[in-house]
Amino acid sequence: MVSIILFLSGCDSSNQSSELYDSKDEIDKKVDSVLSLMTLQEKIGQMNQYNGFWNVTGPKPKEGDAAKKYEHLRTGMVGSMLNIRGVDEVRKVQKIAVEESRLGIPLIIGFDVIHGYKTISPIPLAEAASWDMEAIKKSAAVAAAESAASGINWTFAPMVDISRDARWGRVMEGAGEDPYLGSKIAYARVKGFQGDDLSAVNTIAATAKHFAGYGFSESGRDYNTVDVGTSTLYNIILPPFKATIEADVKTFMNSFNELNGIPATGNKFLQRDILKEKWKFDGFVVSDWGSIVEMKNHGYAKNDKEAAMLAANAGSDMDMESYLYVNYLEELIADGNVDEDLIDDAVKRILKVKFELGLFEDPYKYCDSDREKRVVGSKEINEVVLDMAKKSIVLLKNENNLLPLKKEGQKIALIGPLSDDKNSPLGSWRIAADDNTAISVLEGMKKYDKNTLTHQKGADLVVGNPAFVFETEINETGTSGFQAAIKIAKNADVVVMVLGEYGFQSGEGRSRTNLDLPGVQQQLLEAVYKVNKKVVLVLMNGRPLTINWADKNIPAIVEAWHLGTQSGNAIVQVLYGDYNPSGKLPMTFPRSVGQIPIYYNYKNTGRPTYPGNNLVFWSHFSDEENTPLYPFGYGLSYTTFKYDHLKLSTDSFRGNEKIEVTFDLYNTGKYEGKEVVQLYIRDLYGSITRPVKELKGFEMVSLKPGETKQVMFTINKEMLKFYTANEKWETETGDFKVFIGGSSYTKLEADFEFIN
Ligand code: BGC
Repeated sequence: MVSIILFLSGCDSSNQSSELYDSKDEIDKKVDSVLSLMTLQEKIGQMNQYNGFWNVTGPKPKEGDAAKKYEHLRTGMVGSMLNIRGVDEVRKVQKIAVEESRLGIPLIIGFDVIHGYKTISPIPLAEAASWDMEAIKKSAAVAAAESAASGINWTFAPMVDISRDARWGRVMEGAGEDPYLGSKIAYARVKGFQGDDLSAVNTIAATAKHFAGYGFSESGRDYNTVDVGTSTLYNIILPPFKATIEADVKTFMNSFNELNGIPATGNKFLQRDILKEKWKFDGFVVSDWGSIVEMKNHGYAKNDKEAAMLAANAGSDMDMESYLYVNYLEELIADGNVDEDLIDDAVKRILKVKFELGLFEDPYKYCDSDREKRVVGSKEINEVVLDMAKKSIVLLKNENNLLPLKKEGQKIALIGPLSDDKNSPLGSWRIAADDNTAISVLEGMKKYDKNTLTHQKGADLVVGNPAFVFETEINETGTSGFQAAIKIAKNADVVVMVLGEYGFQSGEGRSRTNLDLPGVQQQLLEAVYKVNKKVVLVLMNGRPLTINWADKNIPAIVEAWHLGTQSGNAIVQVLYGDYNPSGKLPMTFPRSVGQIPIYYNYKNTGRPTYPGNNLVFWSHFSDEENTPLYPFGYGLSYTTFKYDHLKLSTDSFRGNEKIEVTFDLYNTGKYEGKEVVQLYIRDLYGSITRPVKELKGFEMVSLKPGETKQVMFTINKEMLKFYTANEKWETETGDFKVFIGGSSYTKLEADFEFIN
């Protein structure tokens, strides 16, 4: 065996100082020298990724039994494994690759560290509701540290797919509907995972996924066809991916969907022309699970071999669980159907990331059992996820200041199938977490012990074991627990009801056509409300829901998503006013599923309002309003804010000049609070039609009661750019409006002109 590790590094692997790691040029040289030692088969091996031996995160392929995987590890035919975790297990496979294969090239170990590893942070959609980039970055950083301590060095996150469709179960995994907010969050999350030094033992390589268009699947049905125009592709879908490039993301994952007739996995335009050429991405692209072989089902590849050819030629560098590169690439090169230069290019990209992680210097650097014991589940990580969880909560309604709850002398009835659920708050991407390890609302409530607390679930949300992902049914009929719940509600000063979706009801493969409260929960809510009007509804869910009845009747509504391990603690701190909520919705809440796709940055259309007294011929529904239940950017606080005195430094500008936008923000309520102030711009006409509003800036402002602050934003030419009819990012001259406020529904506006 040629020992590449010692041959290349010449350094003591126990010494982890990052000064020992290489500069970009040195890495390129080392990559070339490793490549020169490799046989074609070994190169193809680097492009092959296998799933581990127990968890699966996709359909189990026919091929690939454990014996074959071990044999391929020994023969250098595996470049990466996913779903292997824990220091001991990772060390086992790494040892085979490093010590038994001819060249001893280390494996890169991938895992879906989507919102935490063992300690679970809020689902990404919830984190997005914080609009707090520092907190989001920190949350990704602790997830990186925790997973890296457990043998992982590569996460398949962040998912940066923009989506306007709450039926799609995977909206929980993204940052919502807006490309500007989505780009900021994409950047923050990559920086959080990768840190400033990828070779450090507490950082891991990130993945921008799913490239591209996955969030636009027709009717929100997962894996469905995507057909979008150029403007939507460039102005809405691609910006967050571009932001990850700016954050120096190391890998991309392509996606299951076709985009305008061509599956993303075999899409050269996306992977080669845009990503690798235009954007100069120098990391590697991994396929999604089995997405290469699935090109046959799409009707794009006629057989396995052609699927491998199409994917490799289109720029998919690593095959996750299709077993096609390993089976066909050698033959395809011999036939002249795939150029060996493309293989070299793919392998260089993969080796480069391995070098950057420092795996060649020490393949076991993520395999330190002491560190694993110390870091996994640590107090510090729990503190960060608690902070993130509080910041993710959105107050949707608070009539007559029912919230915050009084801390003493109150009889509180806690009701609802999710009120003592320790599993659902973990969400659906929590493979490494132990079941039932979230703090429930009941547990959190017990800490405020100067009130009298009674508790009844009232009903089950699911039949069967909610920890068991694939075999769970919603309880549609069981109401026998209602009476006990009604009884405690009758005697309470305030009722807190925890309702929503169970943890696995959103996520991959969990599309829904009905977004009402599932099962018997609406019935339970109405039955309790009948006997006590003072109800605080706490929602736990992975996507916007249609809660019109609750909005009309229930005085206080708290959007608490699936908040992870510290869920119950975060929720009760908000309910009792120890934390004043400041979250804002990253995604529109519809009134009805029929309104979907519904989003704030829509186009005006030719018939935006009814002309004269004609009630028919305008763009509307005859049975529902056009407006959403809660708009993008919306969220209340226990205090109130007033916006006033909007001023522009000038009403027209040209070239590199700027406009200063100032306004006063007043805290007009009784509590200290934080407000996410938002700036939107409308481009009144363009070479392609422009949205009625686009988010172009936001800032978090803290104010004491009675305090006022002047806030300033700057408008420049860059902010007005869009992908124009010339198929270029440009600023067009013309008239604009700027809007300032606490949600996308703000009416405080001013006009300006960009001259040239
Ligand atoms: C998902 C990816 C995920 C992969 C590996 C796929 O089913 O679409 O997002 O990273 O599985 O678990």
